[in-house]
Amino acid sequence: MRIALTGIAFLIASGVSAGDAPGGVPYPAGYRNWTHVKSTAIGPKHPRFDVNGGLHHFYANEKGLEGYKTGKWPDGAMLIDDLLELKENDGVGAEGTRKRVAVMYKDSVRFRDTGGWGFEIFKGDDSVPSLNAEGRAACFTCHTKQKDRDSVYSQYRK
Ligand code: HEC
Repeated sequence: MRIALTGIAFLIASGVSAGDAPGGVPYPAGYRNWTHVKSTAIGPKHPRFDVNGGLHHFYANEKGLEGYKTGKWPDGAMLIDDLLELKENDGVGAEGTRKRVAVMYKDSVRFRDTGGWGFEIFKGDDSVPSLNAEGRAACFTCHTKQKDRDSVYSQYRK
């Protein structure tokens, strides 16, 4: 019982809603209040514009931020790649609608086969997970190339 309560307290403290999402990665409720790590704009010249085109804003919860500083992410860390459409009006680039929210969630026991990270995609404004096992494996295949940085690509600037 005590373990269960600690678990719930942890989930609340980390801003993650309790509940057992199919892939084990819950919707990152409130991520817009977390730390903004960086942004990347992917334009039409990119080979994967159809999938990845638009404005990416990266966020991290408190434990996620800790990892950016130490290079090793503790359990409970959540990293977000929020992808919005990039609109252009008279030379001004602006945010459009949300395309999807990509999430990495650290749990070294549950996700031990994928470097301790759970991967998930929430489409549009939907809070329901969309990836199957194959999709999650594809995320890890690319992210594991960053082995010496705990599978994380982005860097936090001061
Ligand atoms: C072909 C390689 C590749 C694949 C496949 C890939 N990613 Fe990434 N991902 C990246 C790169 C590169 C970045 C950093 C982009 C930047 O800094 O602008 C990144 C960044 C991220 C971040 C922010 C944390 C970090 O590592 O910088 C999250 C969260 C993320 N991806 C989730 C996913 C999910 C979920 C999937 C599977 C649906 C996925 N990624 C598939 C290459 C990939």
